Amino acid sequence: MPTNGPTGRPPCLVTGVAGFIGGHLAQALLDAGWPVVGVDDLSRGGLEGMAGFQEHPGFRFLRGSVLDPGCVREMLALGGAGARLFHLAAISSTQYCLEHPEQAMRLNRDAALELHAAARRAGFATYVFSGSAAEYGDAPRVPVAEGDATGRTVQLSPYGAAKYQVSARVGGSGFGTALRFFNVFGPRQDPDNPYSGVISKFLDAALAGRSPVVHGDGGQSRDFVYVGDVVHACLLAAGVVDGRARFGIYNVGTGVETTILELARTVGALAGSGAPVRFAPARRGDIRRSLCDPSAFAAATGWRPGVGLRQGLAPTLAWMRARERGR
Ligand SMILES: NC(=O)c1ccc[n+]([C@@H]2O[C@H](COP(=O)([O-])OP(=O)(O)OC[C@H]3O[C@@H](n4cnc5c(N)ncnc54)[C@H](O)[C@@H]3O)[C@@H](O)[C@H]2O)c1
Repeated sequence: MPTNGPTGRPPCLVTGVAGFIGGHLAQALLDAGWPVVGVDDLSRGGLEGMAGFQEHPGFRFLRGSVLDPGCVREMLALGGAGARLFHLAAISSTQYCLEHPEQAMRLNRDAALELHAAARRAGFATYVFSGSAAEYGDAPRVPVAEGDATGRTVQLSPYGAAKYQVSARVGGSGFGTALRFFNVFGPRQDPDNPYSGVISKFLDAALAGRSPVVHGDGGQSRDFVYVGDVVHACLLAAGVVDGRARFGIYNVGTGVETTILELARTVGALAGSGAPVRFAPARRGDIRRSLCDPSAFAAATGWRPGVGLRQGLAPTLAWMRARERGR
């Protein structure tokens, strides 16, 4: 049976709910009074990602894999007509996908497409897919707009290829939204995971007084977007904010470019670390420049990034410090 909450609202399903973005999204939905069904197989970590809301009366957790038909059936039954599905479960590491391409395609592409079709059949209101900047490959010019990724674009990893194929299908289907997240950062991004984002790694190094490791010359750039802004984008795309879902493909980034070397120095200064940068060999599959044109999503929804890099680093650092103290 669908789990309509006390407000009578249809539920929101969040796959990858124990992960970095999924945890923030579930928290925001619950705070706004939406019942949430969260699904995660806990392959990327433990229950800590759900610590803030696990006991919330509007939250129900299904431990299982989106690759398991039984789990998917149960999840869809808990949704029902009018529900919204936010599909975030994935192998979120480019490097891991390069090392395990078949596994990457099975989960990041096939399972995402199967869920999209199943949500549509089940009468869901929408399906929001977590696409990626990696869909653009090593773009010849930046900033990239949505139309710059085409069937001819060469993605540098199975991760980017899978994300592109799902976004293209969802965006062209008339049901659902593919949001291409750029580099998301913020509290609760696990620095212990070997594949975790660069900001959490640099903060972790700075707090331990270690040198941040920069691959290549550090001139490669990224568009860093704060997790709270990404969550807001998900809510807008799904029509959670104003009841109007926006179908299609949209970039979610800031339009501000930061080099990895600049980032390493900014993080070091903020954390009060004097450790010099250590350079290491460039990594296969590393994009040189990544910068987003966010204007389409802004025009469709009024979304603007509210938190800049320096502003977002402060709560991220505070969270890392609190985590160190709790150990
Ligand atoms: N963090 C970023 O910068 C970024 C950028 C672009 C796109 N994305 C995408 O956004 C989504 C969320 O990213 P994140 O940073 O929160 O990643 P994350 O790795 O922190 O979270 C992913 C979650 O999915 C779960 N999961 C993995 N396989 C599963 C399966 N088979 N069934 C159920 N759960 C499974 C993991 O246990 C984990 O909790 C991913 O799809 C990722 O590719 C993230």
